[in-house]
Amino acid sequence: MFAMSPYAVMLTLLFVVVLWLTTRWMTDRQGRIGRQITDAATSYQQAGLQMISGMRLVQTVAGEDRMEEWVAGKLHTFVKFHYKAITASSIMQPITTVASGLFVASLLFFGDSLFSGKETDWLGSIILFVVVFYRMLGPATGLYGVRITIAQLWPALQKVKMFFELCSRSQLSFGDRDLGKSPSFDISISGLNFGFADTPILQDINLSIPSGSMLALVGESGAGKSTLANLIMRLYPTSAGQISIGGVNISEFSRKSFAENVGLVSQDTILFNDTLKNNFLFVQPDATEAEIWEALKKAKADQFVEELEQGLDTVIQEGGSRLSGGQRQRIALARALIRPKQILILDESTSQLDAFSEAVVQETITNLHGTTTLIVIAHRMSTVRKADAVAVLENGRVVEFGTPNQLLMEDTMFRQMIEFQQVSPA
Ligand SMILES: Nc1ncnc2c1ncn2[C@@H]1O[C@H](COP(=O)(O)OP(=O)(O)OP(=O)(O)O)[C@@H](O)[C@H]1O
Ligand SMILES: [Mg+2]
Repeated sequence: MFAMSPYAVMLTLLFVVVLWLTTRWMTDRQGRIGRQITDAATSYQQAGLQMISGMRLVQTVAGEDRMEEWVAGKLHTFVKFHYKAITASSIMQPITTVASGLFVASLLFFGDSLFSGKETDWLGSIILFVVVFYRMLGPATGLYGVRITIAQLWPALQKVKMFFELCSRSQLSFGDRDLGKSPSFDISISGLNFGFADTPILQDINLSIPSGSMLALVGESGAGKSTLANLIMRLYPTSAGQISIGGVNISEFSRKSFAENVGLVSQDTILFNDTLKNNFLFVQPDATEAEIWEALKKAKADQFVEELEQGLDTVIQEGGSRLSGGQRQRIALARALIRPKQILILDESTSQLDAFSEAVVQETITNLHGTTTLIVIAHRMSTVRKADAVAVLENGRVVEFGTPNQLLMEDTMFRQMIEFQQVSPA
């Protein structure tokens, strides 16, 4: 082409630059719209999930219309951005057509001078030039189109990438020590600090829990009790300070041995949408049915499971919705009791039980006392009276520590809590 006419090639380059600048503008614009689409899609999908999971609340407050309006609003935003993206990308085709038309027109208009001196038949040269130009235009605009499409999809791809990175990234390091072989299971927490993002939650926690003893963690809602339990379970990395078991930092133990020896019954009861039996096998794959029944008995859950038509083969549905709150809690407790643990953390694990069932579960916990290091988080004072030591947390700090009787003899928050609940001290 250059040999045919350098001026014509320069004009072509001018056209390419115009196309490139348009594409750049379109790429930035579609990138922005892509981000808006991704955010709107996330928001819409979250709203849909919340609508399904919160259906009971919606029904109890007769909020179907408000919920529909809310979800429809999110869907509308999502559709609006999609529409914007389609409109924006469809502008590219007319721009290219008009620009290439103008280009060909200017070739014809200035053809005489552009090709002068090269060919006597300059019209033939122009036709050849235009044919070559259009042959190249197709793939070039195709490539630009792909670039624009990628720019639009990029934010969604980034989100998926971020998700996989979060899944695979473990900020926690595990060692290869076998916790099961530890000579003792006392827990020592020293100078522990922890916060979510920039918000400090736990500050300067120092606690010592001797092997086989029972520590009760009490305090107002939001004081940091569950956060402390989760840190001992190694669900989060600590910001400063350390937690050790038998004098060894918990990060030195292997993940497998840690899971085998330390158990947590968390505040939120998590049951899988599967049979009761499989819920047990998930945490203890080699558990026998006899062991499962034994664990159910310890958690005072054997009776109602026996009454279920399909017993252990009963499918308990999403989040355990087929069971009552107290029944779910007892299943979760039984799951943690299936094999003896060296350390057991019970986070409000009997909060939904009736007094009779709670008394049975208390007996199970009392039986573990002496052989298992227990950390019990409870609002109910009946649960904490049997502890060897009580730590009262306030705004992420341990403000009181001692035996229940020591704390009851002084003017403490613990005594106020006991008095408020009108539970007679042990
Ligand atoms: N994932 C999180 N991100 C940010 N802040 C959080 C997170 N989890 C908990 N928090 C905050 O940390 C503080 C302590 O929460 P935590 O669940 O430990 O309280 P708690 O003492 O167990 O309360 P409760 O008795 O109600 O269970 C609260 O202020 C809570 O809002
Ligand atoms: Mg909690």
